[in-house]
Amino acid sequence: IFPLSNLVIEMSDQGPYFQNDTENRLILYVLTRPLALLLMAVVSSGLRFFLNSFVVALVLPVLLTVVALKLLLWRSPDLKHLYTYYSAGQRGLWVAVYDEDDVCGCVALEPHNGEPRTAELKRLAVNRWYRRSGVGRHLLHFLEKRARAQGFRFLVAHVSVVTKAAIGLFESSGYSVSGGRQWLGYTVQQEFRKDL
Ligand SMILES: CC(C)(COP(=O)(O)OP(=O)(O)OC[C@H]1O[C@@H](n2cnc3c(N)ncnc32)[C@H](O)[C@@H]1OP(=O)(O)O)[C@@H](O)C(=O)NCCC(=O)NCCS
Repeated sequence: IFPLSNLVIEMSDQGPYFQNDTENRLILYVLTRPLALLLMAVVSSGLRFFLNSFVVALVLPVLLTVVALKLLLWRSPDLKHLYTYYSAGQRGLWVAVYDEDDVCGCVALEPHNGEPRTAELKRLAVNRWYRRSGVGRHLLHFLEKRARAQGFRFLVAHVSVVTKAAIGLFESSGYSVSGGRQWLGYTVQQEFRKDL
């Protein structure tokens, strides 16, 4: 637990020069997740049936994963040009800073595709060390106030069904499910909506 009064929310001013560094760190982060390591180990073991070289079987899954992640990031318009994307129009990206220099969370806002007076919450995330201390709720309230001030009437958020923490946050903050995305008959993403 830490005092939320030491927390300030400010506009992100990370210029385009940070982009490459951020992208590589993100890829490194994904590559070192236990599930990713497990999957790469399984693929690597499978490849050993076809490849003679242990090194090639080991390195190939890592290289393919890096290429896939690069393509994924390249296809994501906001992650590709984070700063320029969120400094245009009615968009915005904010970071929560604790004790002047510790970035502990972020959140972004943009108009929801085509729907009038509806904004979309994007990139809500809190650093693991600061979770369950109220930072996420604080960022959400901040964004609702910003959206209201910018003339939006509704705020929507698209949440993956596996992110139980985010679902708990939206459900306990007055949001209701207004749609979702299906894959093979299963709901993989829910749309939460609130009348501001
Ligand atoms: C979702 C996330 C932003 C929540 O941030 P946080 O600072 O830990 O949340 P808070 O401490 O403000 O908690 C607010 C509410 O969220 C819910 N919540 C948070 N963590 C939870 C968890 N692990 N399990 C269930 N509910 C949880 C609770 O309802 C909580 O209220 P309570 O503390 O009164 O019970 C954070 O877990 C995160 O960054 N997750 C990974 C990224 C992500 O899923 N982003 C959402 C994309 S839309």
